[in-house]
Amino acid sequence: SRPRELVIAMDGPAGAGKSTLAKIVARRLGYLYVDTGAMYRALALKALRLGIAETDREALAAMGATTEVRLERTADGGNRVLLDGEDVTAEIRSPAVSAIVSRVSAVPELRALMIEQQRAMARSGGVVMDGRDIGSYVLPDADLKFFITASLQERARRRQLQLRAEGHQAELGQVEAEIARRDEQDMNKGAHSLMQLPESIVIDTTGKEIEEVVAEILGHCRRA
Ligand code: DC
Repeated sequence: SRPRELVIAMDGPAGAGKSTLAKIVARRLGYLYVDTGAMYRALALKALRLGIAETDREALAAMGATTEVRLERTADGGNRVLLDGEDVTAEIRSPAVSAIVSRVSAVPELRALMIEQQRAMARSGGVVMDGRDIGSYVLPDADLKFFITASLQERARRRQLQLRAEGHQAELGQVEAEIARRDEQDMNKGAHSLMQLPESIVIDTTGKEIEEVVAEILGHCRRA
């Protein structure tokens, strides 16, 4: 008989390799990959476009009530991000979005809307969900909870490469400072904070090849 389809939570700080790993693991298992950060990025992009300040909670909450954020599966197992029907997959990675997304994602009304959708996507199992509060809050009953991390220096290096590949130039020191600031914000969101749980399987990707980490994660999945 076919093995039971697991619900897998993957949390961790920016640049730890989480989304790369989650996407590969989902593809290998034939599961759905859900990038929850992309949903908050789409909301941040809309706020930018409307000129709503990231500190204006009321306006952001009102915006959320009339906004549709949808994730679609792409052929390579990634996510296409649709904001009110428009494909914004590339645009949500811009430095301008990265600079405000943590603040935008801290608005409780926006989180409630996104989390409802995230839970619906995980309902029938067979999902790898990538975010910050997945194991702690969104899917507390997940079969497996991974906490993916890496040193700040390595995460900054990776983010810089990623930015470059997307056509954005940035200085390493600047990228490092931006990531550190975002870590700080992401660890101070109350119930939605990025945190290691007692049941988390902690994986430090510093200095490791992607394939090595993928094999480690798949090993845990097989045992589950
Ligand atoms: O993973 P990312 O860098 O694309 O996430 C963008 C921002 O959204 C990040 O600052 C943290 C926030 N986020 C969150 O608060 N909760 C999640 N489940 C996912 C992301």
